[in-house]
Amino acid sequence: VRVHDLSTPALLFDADALEHNLATMAAVRPGPALRPHVKAHKCTALAREQARHGHTGFTCATPREVVGLAETGLGDDLLLANETLDPHRLRAMADAPGRVTVAVDSADTIDAAVANGIAEVLIDVNVGLPRCGCPPQEAGRLADAARARGLVVRGVMGYEGHLMVIEDAERQRTEVAKAMDLLLQAHADVGGDVVSAGGTGTYAIHDRVTEVQAGSYALMDTYYAKLPLPFRQAHFLETTVISANNEWAVCDAGLKSLGMDHGNPAIDGYVVWFCSDEHVTFAPAEGSAIPPPGDRVKVIPAHVDPTITLHERAYVVRGDDVLDTWPIDLRGW
Ligand SMILES: Cc1ncc(COP(=O)(O)O)c(C=O)c1O
Repeated sequence: VRVHDLSTPALLFDADALEHNLATMAAVRPGPALRPHVKAHKCTALAREQARHGHTGFTCATPREVVGLAETGLGDDLLLANETLDPHRLRAMADAPGRVTVAVDSADTIDAAVANGIAEVLIDVNVGLPRCGCPPQEAGRLADAARARGLVVRGVMGYEGHLMVIEDAERQRTEVAKAMDLLLQAHADVGGDVVSAGGTGTYAIHDRVTEVQAGSYALMDTYYAKLPLPFRQAHFLETTVISANNEWAVCDAGLKSLGMDHGNPAIDGYVVWFCSDEHVTFAPAEGSAIPPPGDRVKVIPAHVDPTITLHERAYVVRGDDVLDTWPIDLRGW
């Protein structure tokens, strides 16, 4: 099968760029020093590639990701780096064929874990992102409460998501150090072997955690491309030009095939004007020609995670050859 024969919009994974990204990360954060976040790709076939590169523990955002990985034999050490109180989903994770650890940040999440058969937890600590996580000074008390209920507390996690994209590298380093001071202060009270934090924007500057939770590095996007990271763009939308005139052209991706919270996607050599449900309107830059209807155009998404989740499958490609088809099988909750 050839890329130009695929119906569009089609999600493409560039095999060589993906391999470069996985190998580059594994060289800096080998084996358990990286716990890849699967929410970025929601694809067990891609997770299997990450395992082949040495990372056999995974970070998940949803119970579905945990259960799906466990059922395909990738359940060595799965972390739900997120809170849930849902008894059905907690039970499904407890019954899954793998080792499952869930994040807790309150007496309520501890109660729900105990009541539904979860054995191991991490204390989730707020290190500055106003989202989940207990105040650092409450972490020890929560760990004691969890242990008193029979849970194994493996350590702490603290995701510094507000610091992922800071273009001034020195400022980023300083801010991340302050956030990690909070996490280590909590860890001193909690104990355990695991100190988990970080993402694609900070993976290289962590020196006091046991593992980094990066996900976007595998496929990248234009948002992370603002930073001088060594990773390559590895996913694209193959689209077809469906209308054109002498000022602009329109291709058949849009809001329903692209995550848009980081703004418009990019097209090399063109300026994207705007996206509608099923259209991207774009015009030439740098003297490029307006493509006629029927031409193919590669659209580069601005945010990988919410783009991937809109697609049922990805085509793994090298040039115009389709090498494989990978289901995006960890979608849903
Ligand atoms: C809990 C958690 N850990 C880690 C990450 C890092 O992911 P990425 O590498 O895509 O920045 C995220 C992303 O939102 C997250 O929510």
